[in-house]
Amino acid sequence: MRKSKSKKFVLLFLLPVWRVLGVSLGVATAIMGKKAAMACTAAVEEVIGEHYKEQVSHLEDGELRETISKFRDEELEHRDIAIQHNAESAFGYNILSSFIKTGCKTAIYLSKLI
Ligand SMILES: [Fe+2]
Repeated sequence: MRKSKSKKFVLLFLLPVWRVLGVSLGVATAIMGKKAAMACTAAVEEVIGEHYKEQVSHLEDGELRETISKFRDEELEHRDIAIQHNAESAFGYNILSSFIKTGCKTAIYLSKLI
């Protein structure tokens, strides 16, 4: 499927925005400490894992479904590793996690509009 010029423009605009926000989030939580960085990782990986899970539910059996399922499993494994590394002990974990998850879900929602 070909994308219209306006959709290509939005896509070209959004990708750098996601990159800047993603790097900023990583840097900010890293400055806050290891536990906050792990909390950030856990939140992001969970949302991405759920996104992949939703995509898998719409795919028929085949190579693409297997690939996305593998990605889902990997992201959820990364979440579990972050949890094992004390993500939930981060200061303000619930607020930080909710904030990051909302941001990720918003990014996914906006990307789906394109
Ligand atoms: Fe990951």
